[in-house]
Amino acid sequence: MQFLSTVFAAAAALATVASAGTVHFVNQDSTQRTIVFTQNEGLESIPELVISGLTTANQTFPTGWIGNWYSVSEGATNTPGMLGEVRFDGYAGATYFDVSAIVNPEDTNGVKEIFPLGSNTPVSGCQKWPCTNAYNKWDDVATLSTDGDELVCLLGTASSTRRRGANAMSRDYVTS
Ligand SMILES: *[C@@H]1O[C@H](CO)[C@@H](O)[C@H](O)[C@H]1NC(C)=O
Repeated sequence: MQFLSTVFAAAAALATVASAGTVHFVNQDSTQRTIVFTQNEGLESIPELVISGLTTANQTFPTGWIGNWYSVSEGATNTPGMLGEVRFDGYAGATYFDVSAIVNPEDTNGVKEIFPLGSNTPVSGCQKWPCTNAYNKWDDVATLSTDGDELVCLLGTASSTRRRGANAMSRDYVTS
């Protein structure tokens, strides 16, 4: 009985917090980038998001959105690249995410890492490609999850130390 009431309380909590998700895009270098979103069939499309160099932009997503995005650097051709993949409000209300190199492992300049806002873990992807911390082959089991509905997606090349962008961002978000 204790177990059951705990389950019901958890389900009720999830039902009330189920809401639109957000991805905080952090452009780590001076290149302007355009984020191109692709939604699963039948879901709402999201307009391209232009992010100036060294700035951040927050994109909100409809409840239950499933899809991906890639980054196109200013002046480059619009080719699907390294993908950020996400499922909001998935199984047990969690947010599922990963960085996938399956479509275009040559795109080492755009989407770098995704992790939950306010936390540095778990992280999918890396600052320098190629790396194993991502979907690299179709049967890789690399999807991560978080109870939160806000993610950070790092783009471009961090200026000095590898994790500087991520750490600075998490600190900013935690303290603001
Ligand atoms: C994005 O969200 C973060 C965290 O809530 C906030 O600090 C920042 O000001 C927002 N940025 C924009 C451009 O709205």
